Amino acid sequence: MMSSHASSRGRSKLERMQESPFFTPPLELEAIKARTAELGFNMASERGIGNLLQVLAASKPGGRFLELGTGTGMATSWILSGMDDKSTLISVDNDEAVQAVAHEFLGKDPRLKLLPLDAGQFIWRQPKKSFDLIFADALIGKYVAGDDALALVAPGGFYAIDDLLPQPNWPEGHAEKVPNLLYHLSSHPKFHMMPMAWSTGIAVLVRKPPVK
Ligand SMILES: C[S@@+](CC[C@H](N)C(=O)[O-])C[C@H]1O[C@@H](n2cnc3c(N)ncnc32)[C@H](O)[C@@H]1O
Repeated sequence: MMSSHASSRGRSKLERMQESPFFTPPLELEAIKARTAELGFNMASERGIGNLLQVLAASKPGGRFLELGTGTGMATSWILSGMDDKSTLISVDNDEAVQAVAHEFLGKDPRLKLLPLDAGQFIWRQPKKSFDLIFADALIGKYVAGDDALALVAPGGFYAIDDLLPQPNWPEGHAEKVPNLLYHLSSHPKFHMMPMAWSTGIAVLVRKPPVK
Protein backbone atom coordinates (compact mmCIF):
# COMPACT_ATOMS: atom_id res chain seq x y z
CA MET A 1 0.00 0.00 0.00
CA MET A 2 1.18 3.48 -0.81
CA SER A 3 2.23 5.50 2.26
CA SER A 4 0.19 8.57 3.09
CA HIS A 5 3.26 10.66 2.23
CA ALA A 6 3.84 9.15 -1.21
CA SER A 7 2.22 10.51 -4.35
CA SER A 8 0.97 8.34 -7.19
CA ARG A 9 4.27 9.07 -9.03
CA GLY A 10 6.35 7.96 -6.04
CA ARG A 11 7.38 11.45 -4.95
CA SER A 12 6.63 12.61 -1.43
CA LYS A 13 4.40 15.57 -0.68
CA LEU A 14 7.51 17.42 0.49
CA GLU A 15 9.32 16.78 -2.81
CA ARG A 16 6.29 17.88 -4.81
CA MET A 17 5.93 21.03 -2.72
CA GLN A 18 9.61 21.91 -3.24
CA GLU A 19 9.18 21.61 -7.00
CA SER A 20 6.03 23.65 -6.74
CA PRO A 21 5.07 26.42 -9.14
CA PHE A 22 4.27 28.60 -6.10
CA PHE A 23 7.89 29.72 -5.77
CA THR A 24 8.90 32.99 -7.41
CA PRO A 25 12.57 32.42 -8.21
CA PRO A 26 15.01 35.23 -8.97
CA LEU A 27 15.42 36.01 -12.68
CA GLU A 28 19.12 35.09 -12.65
CA LEU A 29 18.64 31.71 -10.95
CA GLU A 30 18.60 29.43 -14.00
CA ALA A 31 21.71 31.06 -15.51
CA ILE A 32 23.59 30.80 -12.20
CA LYS A 33 22.46 27.18 -11.87
CA ALA A 34 23.74 26.32 -15.34
CA ARG A 35 27.15 27.93 -14.65
CA THR A 36 27.28 26.18 -11.25
CA ALA A 37 26.78 22.82 -12.98
CA GLU A 38 29.49 23.66 -15.57
CA LEU A 39 31.90 24.41 -12.73
CA GLY A 40 30.98 21.16 -10.96
CA PHE A 41 30.26 23.13 -7.76
CA ASN A 42 28.16 20.75 -5.65
CA MET A 43 27.50 22.85 -2.56
CA ALA A 44 24.90 25.24 -3.96
CA SER A 45 21.67 25.88 -2.04
CA GLU A 46 18.41 24.31 -3.15
CA ARG A 47 15.23 26.16 -4.13
CA GLY A 48 13.44 25.43 -0.86
CA ILE A 49 16.24 27.09 1.10
CA GLY A 50 16.35 30.02 -1.31
CA ASN A 51 12.62 30.51 -1.04
CA LEU A 52 12.75 30.66 2.76
CA LEU A 53 15.63 33.17 2.64
CA GLN A 54 13.66 35.30 0.17
CA VAL A 55 10.74 35.42 2.61
CA LEU A 56 12.97 36.25 5.59
CA ALA A 57 14.70 39.03 3.63
CA ALA A 58 11.36 40.53 2.64
CA SER A 59 10.33 40.70 6.30
CA LYS A 60 13.09 43.25 7.03
CA PRO A 61 12.63 46.40 4.92
CA GLY A 62 15.81 48.48 4.99
CA GLY A 63 17.62 45.44 6.43
CA ARG A 64 21.34 44.66 6.60
CA PHE A 65 21.99 41.12 5.44
CA LEU A 66 25.06 38.89 5.48
CA GLU A 67 25.87 35.64 3.70
CA LEU A 68 28.92 33.67 4.81
CA GLY A 69 29.94 31.54 1.81
CA THR A 70 28.71 33.04 -1.46
CA GLY A 71 29.52 29.98 -3.55
CA THR A 72 28.28 30.80 -7.04
CA GLY A 73 25.51 33.06 -5.73
CA MET A 74 22.43 30.82 -5.65
CA ALA A 75 21.23 31.92 -2.20
CA THR A 76 22.60 35.40 -2.85
CA SER A 77 20.16 35.75 -5.74
CA TRP A 78 17.23 34.52 -3.62
CA ILE A 79 18.04 36.93 -0.77
CA LEU A 80 18.34 39.85 -3.22
CA SER A 81 14.97 38.92 -4.73
CA GLY A 82 13.30 39.34 -1.32
CA MET A 83 15.04 42.60 -0.41
CA ASP A 84 13.65 46.09 -0.87
CA ASP A 85 15.64 48.96 -2.43
CA LYS A 86 16.99 50.19 0.90
CA SER A 87 18.31 46.84 2.09
CA THR A 88 21.92 45.78 1.63
CA LEU A 89 23.62 42.39 1.40
CA ILE A 90 27.26 41.55 2.00
CA SER A 91 28.36 38.12 0.80
CA VAL A 92 31.80 36.73 1.66
CA ASP A 93 33.75 33.85 0.15
CA ASN A 94 37.44 32.97 0.12
CA ASP A 95 37.19 31.16 -3.24
CA GLU A 96 37.29 33.83 -5.91
CA ALA A 97 36.73 31.32 -8.73
CA VAL A 98 33.25 30.37 -7.54
CA GLN A 99 32.37 33.86 -6.35
CA ALA A 100 33.15 35.08 -9.89
CA VAL A 101 29.85 33.52 -11.03
CA ALA A 102 27.95 35.67 -8.52
CA HIS A 103 29.90 38.69 -9.79
CA GLU A 104 28.95 37.90 -13.36
CA PHE A 105 25.20 37.59 -12.77
CA LEU A 106 24.56 39.74 -9.69
CA GLY A 107 27.53 42.10 -9.50
CA LYS A 108 25.70 45.08 -10.99
CA ASP A 109 23.12 45.17 -8.17
CA PRO A 110 24.03 48.24 -6.07
CA ARG A 111 22.55 46.63 -2.93
CA LEU A 112 25.12 43.82 -3.05
CA LYS A 113 28.75 43.80 -1.91
CA LEU A 114 30.70 40.65 -2.81
CA LEU A 115 33.84 40.35 -0.72
CA PRO A 116 36.66 37.88 -1.50
CA LEU A 117 37.55 37.34 2.15
CA ASP A 118 37.91 34.71 4.83
CA ALA A 119 34.63 34.58 6.77
CA GLY A 120 36.45 34.53 10.11
CA GLN A 121 38.44 37.67 9.32
CA PHE A 122 35.23 39.39 8.30
CA ILE A 123 33.12 38.34 11.32
CA TRP A 124 35.66 39.49 13.88
CA ARG A 125 35.72 43.02 12.46
CA GLN A 126 31.95 43.62 12.51
CA PRO A 127 30.03 45.48 15.23
CA LYS A 128 27.81 43.28 17.42
CA LYS A 129 24.07 43.11 16.61
CA SER A 130 24.56 44.79 13.23
CA PHE A 131 22.78 42.36 10.83
CA ASP A 132 19.09 41.58 10.40
CA LEU A 133 19.71 38.25 8.65
CA ILE A 134 22.80 36.07 8.51
CA PHE A 135 22.85 33.03 6.24
CA ALA A 136 25.83 31.15 7.64
CA ASP A 137 26.71 28.79 4.80
CA ALA A 138 30.42 28.12 5.37
CA LEU A 139 32.16 26.10 8.07
CA ILE A 140 33.23 29.34 9.75
CA GLY A 141 30.26 31.12 11.25
CA LYS A 142 28.46 27.80 11.69
CA TYR A 143 30.55 24.92 13.08
CA VAL A 144 33.53 27.16 13.89
CA ALA A 145 33.03 30.60 15.47
CA GLY A 146 29.26 30.16 15.30
CA ASP A 147 28.81 32.16 18.50
CA ASP A 148 30.81 35.01 16.98
CA ALA A 149 28.45 35.05 14.01
CA LEU A 150 25.39 34.89 16.29
CA ALA A 151 26.71 37.90 18.18
CA LEU A 152 26.29 39.94 14.97
CA VAL A 153 22.52 39.34 14.77
CA ALA A 154 20.38 42.34 15.73
CA PRO A 155 17.33 41.99 18.03
CA GLY A 156 14.53 40.43 16.00
CA GLY A 157 17.10 39.41 13.38
CA PHE A 158 17.55 35.94 11.88
CA TYR A 159 20.42 33.47 11.74
CA ALA A 160 19.84 30.63 9.25
CA ILE A 161 21.84 27.46 8.58
CA ASP A 162 21.07 24.63 6.16
CA ASP A 163 22.33 21.16 5.17
CA LEU A 164 21.16 19.74 8.49
CA LEU A 165 19.72 16.57 6.95
CA PRO A 166 22.17 13.94 5.62
CA GLN A 167 23.77 15.10 2.34
CA PRO A 168 25.82 13.02 -0.14
CA ASN A 169 28.69 15.56 -0.03
CA TRP A 170 29.18 15.41 3.76
CA PRO A 171 32.76 14.51 4.70
CA GLU A 172 33.39 11.61 7.07
CA GLY A 173 32.67 12.50 10.69
CA HIS A 174 30.36 15.40 9.80
CA ALA A 175 27.11 13.59 10.70
CA GLU A 176 27.94 13.67 14.43
CA LYS A 177 28.53 17.42 14.37
CA VAL A 178 24.99 18.32 13.30
CA PRO A 179 23.05 17.24 16.44
CA ASN A 180 25.75 18.77 18.63
CA LEU A 181 25.35 22.08 16.85
CA LEU A 182 21.56 21.95 17.13
CA TYR A 183 21.71 21.16 20.87
CA HIS A 184 24.08 24.06 21.37
CA LEU A 185 21.95 26.50 19.38
CA SER A 186 18.64 25.40 20.91
CA SER A 187 19.95 26.14 24.40
CA HIS A 188 21.20 29.64 23.53
CA PRO A 189 19.54 32.01 26.02
CA LYS A 190 19.29 34.91 23.57
CA PHE A 191 17.68 33.08 20.62
CA HIS A 192 14.59 31.08 19.72
CA MET A 193 15.22 28.31 17.18
CA MET A 194 12.98 26.62 14.62
CA PRO A 195 14.58 23.52 13.05
CA MET A 196 12.77 22.26 9.93
CA ALA A 197 12.96 19.10 7.81
CA TRP A 198 12.53 21.28 4.73
CA SER A 199 14.74 20.96 1.67
CA THR A 200 18.25 20.01 2.89
CA GLY A 201 17.22 20.70 6.51
CA ILE A 202 17.28 24.23 7.83
CA ALA A 203 17.21 25.92 11.21
CA VAL A 204 16.17 29.53 11.65
CA LEU A 205 17.03 31.34 14.87
CA VAL A 206 15.71 34.73 15.89
CA ARG A 207 17.31 36.98 18.51
CA LYS A 208 14.87 37.60 21.34
CA PRO A 209 13.87 41.20 21.94
CA PRO A 210 15.72 42.95 24.78
CA VAL A 211 14.16 42.44 28.24
CA LYS A 212 12.95 45.74 29.79
C1 LIG B 1 27.92 25.62 0.97
S1 LIG B 1 28.93 26.61 -0.05
C2 LIG B 1 27.99 28.10 -0.20
C3 LIG B 1 26.80 27.95 -1.10
C4 LIG B 1 26.05 29.21 -1.35
N1 LIG B 1 25.75 29.96 -0.16
C5 LIG B 1 24.75 28.91 -2.10
O1 LIG B 1 23.70 29.28 -1.63
O2 LIG B 1 24.78 28.26 -3.14
C6 LIG B 1 30.19 27.10 1.06
C7 LIG B 1 31.11 28.19 0.55
O3 LIG B 1 31.90 28.63 1.64
C8 LIG B 1 33.15 28.99 1.15
N2 LIG B 1 34.09 28.98 2.27
C9 LIG B 1 34.62 27.90 2.90
N3 LIG B 1 35.42 28.31 3.90
C10 LIG B 1 35.39 29.67 3.89
C11 LIG B 1 36.01 30.67 4.68
N4 LIG B 1 36.83 30.36 5.68
N5 LIG B 1 35.75 31.95 4.40
C12 LIG B 1 34.93 32.29 3.38
N6 LIG B 1 34.31 31.38 2.61
C13 LIG B 1 34.54 30.08 2.86
C14 LIG B 1 33.46 27.97 0.06
O4 LIG B 1 34.39 28.49 -0.86
C15 LIG B 1 32.07 27.74 -0.54
O5 LIG B 1 31.90 28.53 -1.68
